[in-house]
Amino acid sequence: MEDTCSPETIHLEFSEKYDCDHARHYFRKHQRGFAHRLTTWREQAMARRALALAGDPEVVLDLPCGAGRFWPLLAENPRRRILAADYSEEMIQVARKMQPAELVRRVECFQCSAFETGLDDDSVDSVFCMRLLHHVIDSSHRLALLKELHRITRDTVCVSLWVDGNYQAFRRIRRDLRQSRGSRQNRGVVARRTVEGEFRQAGFEIQGYVDFLKLYSMWRLYVLRKGGRA
Ligand SMILES: C[S@@+](CC[C@H](N)C(=O)[O-])C[C@H]1O[C@@H](n2cnc3c(N)ncnc32)[C@H](O)[C@@H]1O
Repeated sequence: MEDTCSPETIHLEFSEKYDCDHARHYFRKHQRGFAHRLTTWREQAMARRALALAGDPEVVLDLPCGAGRFWPLLAENPRRRILAADYSEEMIQVARKMQPAELVRRVECFQCSAFETGLDDDSVDSVFCMRLLHHVIDSSHRLALLKELHRITRDTVCVSLWVDGNYQAFRRIRRDLRQSRGSRQNRGVVARRTVEGEFRQAGFEIQGYVDFLKLYSMWRLYVLRKGGRA
């Protein structure tokens, strides 16, 4: 396994694509069409299950929050304090504009990189990290991200990514092998064994996981519990 990189040197190419137009497109995309609405419905069910496994945390950081897709779900617990952060200021602005005003008043937003959040140690009960880790291709970068999440959470992290051992991953890996000659991928499948080793190396124990659709889908949402020191 590679060493961890220092957070300030990590920059993902994909992070720059979330300008104002892309942010609006992202918000609309998930509300349009049967397939996208079905995906969001299933992801929400996975998130509910993961939060239950995490013990219904009271202080949650939604990182990256994107267009605030999960804010209504996070707000289902009326006692919950919701923090939300994203690398893209435009994405945060779109979320604040598109989500209901009453909900927006409940969410404390700030801009940061997930590799260097600027939060104190043990700031939140749980970090809710949807659809970021599959963009982090280098193992050393994943480890740096996981160590930052381990540092800022008091208890758990819910993190989704693409894993192997299913039909979609089998097809995706084959496609990536064909296409990757000469082009750099900005999303990828990670072997379960590899990423689970990285979770442990960052100091987490695996509390459980929820699959989008067992044996077919590559989306998996892990619930990690803070164990020893990373
Ligand atoms: C695919 S979207 C997911 C957003 C949200 N979690 C969801 O599932 O709807 C990816 C988000 O990651 C953000 N992002 C990219 N690089 C980041 C980084 N280094 N730190 C924090 N957020 C980042 C993007 O701005 C974008 O909002």
